[in-house]
Amino acid sequence: MSKRSLVLVIALAVITSVIGIVISLSIDWFPVQASTQAKDIDRLYDVLLGFSVPIFVLVVAVLAYSFMQFRQRPGQENEDGTPIHGNTKLEVIWTLIPALLLFGLIGYAYVVLQDIEKPKPNPLNVKVTGEQFTWTFEYPQYKRHNGQPLRTTDLYLPKGRPVQFTVTTKDVLHDFWVPAFRMKIDSVPGINTHIKVTPTRLGKYPVVCAELCGLGHSVMRSATYVVPADRFKRWVADQRKPPSLDGRQIFTDSCASCHTLKAASATGAIGPDLDKTLKGQSKAAIEESILGPDAKIAAGYQKGVMPPNFGQTLSEEEQRALVNYLGKVSS
Ligand code: CUA
Repeated sequence: MSKRSLVLVIALAVITSVIGIVISLSIDWFPVQASTQAKDIDRLYDVLLGFSVPIFVLVVAVLAYSFMQFRQRPGQENEDGTPIHGNTKLEVIWTLIPALLLFGLIGYAYVVLQDIEKPKPNPLNVKVTGEQFTWTFEYPQYKRHNGQPLRTTDLYLPKGRPVQFTVTTKDVLHDFWVPAFRMKIDSVPGINTHIKVTPTRLGKYPVVCAELCGLGHSVMRSATYVVPADRFKRWVADQRKPPSLDGRQIFTDSCASCHTLKAASATGAIGPDLDKTLKGQSKAAIEESILGPDAKIAAGYQKGVMPPNFGQTLSEEEQRALVNYLGKVSS
């Protein structure tokens, strides 16, 4: 290789690397950053990109140059290249540089991991339970008016307070993931797993299941609400008030988005039309359909679509009020 073409190749590699880095850093890879952990992780990702783009460019450039320069020309079919055996200098270089790069990046990633997992004072504890195909969130530090633990299907978090999640599952593997927080962890049968998050941005963010867990995996989603600290306090106080025992209201809050029921002015179309399927059902059958929705499935519908956790998210009084209401409507 002549000196001139070597300079040319190096110049080309530098230019394409710079272009590659600029393009890769200008792409919006991720959703908004809503936690302190998100900032650390995105920076790690950018640094990794900054190192891997030039390596990618270098490998492709050497490949392309070799294809051009050393391709077989007509008449060379039976020729062989010069035999090369051993070049200690070259071998030291191509071992040392990747090794230094790798250990440097591993060291940095380790520092980031230590940082995002550092225990913080006064954390809010939230227990997350996955099951096919829904999430239940429990706040062990708070109780309902009747002494039962505070459980919800949507996640409410105060901005700025460190949260310690304890994650588990009732059935198969799931994976608790809030992309805006950048943190995810498997929920594993029989054990508790943990992640820490400090929300830094107000808003509503999706909770996603990130482990293929059955037919309803893609609908195993709920919402995270990051709210100001005083609003979180008010939300907890609201949750601790004795609930409304108005069956129609409970139906509107919990069921109307999926079911049609004229008596409650509900027009949901995901589950069975209750104006058709409710007629003549006993209260016991209605209760069974609410608490164990997969036991019997109306024709044309699938198992695993209706959340199976109403037995936990509605108190017993609320369940009774809802069943009484639907019993009255069905008769
Ligand atoms: Cu649960 Cu996928």
